[in-house]
Amino acid sequence: SPHPTSSQTPSATKATATGLLAAIADVGSDRRRGGFSRHGYDHAELDLRAWFVEQARRRDLDVRTDRNGNIWAWWGRPGPDAVITGSHLDSVPGGGAFDGPLGVVSALAAVDELRAKGFTPRRPLALVVFAEEEGGRFGVACLGSRLLAGTIDPAKAAALRDPDGVSLGEAMTAAGLDPAGLGRDDEALSRIGCFVELHVEQGRGLIDQAAPVGVASSILAHGRWRFSFTGEGNHAGATPIADRRDPMLSAAGLVLAARRIAAEVEGARATVGRLVPNPGGTNVIASSVDLWLDARAEDDARTRTVVDRIREAATEAAEAEGCAVRITEESYGDTVVFDSTLRDDLSAALGGVPALPTGAGHDAGVLAARVPTAMLFVRNPTGVSHAPAEHAEPEDCEAGVQALTTVLEKLA
Ligand code: GLV
Ligand code: MN
Ligand code: MN
Ligand code: MN
Repeated sequence: SPHPTSSQTPSATKATATGLLAAIADVGSDRRRGGFSRHGYDHAELDLRAWFVEQARRRDLDVRTDRNGNIWAWWGRPGPDAVITGSHLDSVPGGGAFDGPLGVVSALAAVDELRAKGFTPRRPLALVVFAEEEGGRFGVACLGSRLLAGTIDPAKAAALRDPDGVSLGEAMTAAGLDPAGLGRDDEALSRIGCFVELHVEQGRGLIDQAAPVGVASSILAHGRWRFSFTGEGNHAGATPIADRRDPMLSAAGLVLAARRIAAEVEGARATVGRLVPNPGGTNVIASSVDLWLDARAEDDARTRTVVDRIREAATEAAEAEGCAVRITEESYGDTVVFDSTLRDDLSAALGGVPALPTGAGHDAGVLAARVPTAMLFVRNPTGVSHAPAEHAEPEDCEAGVQALTTVLEKLA
């Protein structure tokens, strides 16, 4: 049996997801923005990683960090065809308490449930914490899982820089990890038989269907593009309007065009949530403005159409102001349709639960290209996510843990 032999006796007490979340509620709470700011390899995320390692060891799990900074906690010996569950601990800037951590704490609580039932896995079983899922620090979402799966160039990834100019490689080194090993990890991939990620729902699907738990059907195609507008820095009072080349005007043109264009393509979404003027003074016409476009749609063609049209609008807006624009695609992922056999099996094991599409990206979406992957969603009574109002009631969190326990029991 893969059950560990250890001198330590695993704790007989069962943790709850809500109790575990309460234990980390002080880590990375953001007084200025509200909510939580926990980003890949920053103080808060490193504290959470250390906390997870401690929780896993308390449960007698065998903890290893892979070459890409993802943490694996094995119940028994690591092996092929393993059942993997987990999520991420980082957040967006000023994010909610649940996006990411709920999947991790639910995995810990499910281990307690399985132990209390005297369950012994027939297949290897592991919990995973993926690094920098939101891309809140280095700009590329699902960085740990993309590196693992080999869908991002490791040299480019290592050179990604945060707003303070610190590279991923430097941040990993500071965290005691060696960035030389970054990149596709066939050994780790070959162990994954299937992956199940539990996540707070980021919409109203489960509220509308009056269900505490659901399964995911698909993820929108989505990506991030950086637009750098360059004009002429000058004095806000001394420069006549006719003499200006103000990149903020071009940026504003893009923001308005993005809304108009997305509204014209069915199901499409386009967002500018981050805009950085340089140098950023009230009485200074900016010399340059960087902004980031997040665009999503049902399929690749529609997403490309939206982005191409926004590119055109941005180019026109720049020309109209005598500015230049440079456009870079920072990350992209096509539509994900989750393995329908696994999804239907899990739904049946849970007595039939709603299947929901989602507009949010996930490590599960990255792994779905390599292994059978599924997601469980837990109802969010506000329907809000990536904001402090994101929520899940304790009884729904408990329903999530029970669902994950049932699923792991069935799969492992
Ligand atoms: C990540 O949560 C994303 O969808 O942006
Ligand atoms: Mn998120
Ligand atoms: Mn998430
Ligand atoms: Mn996400």
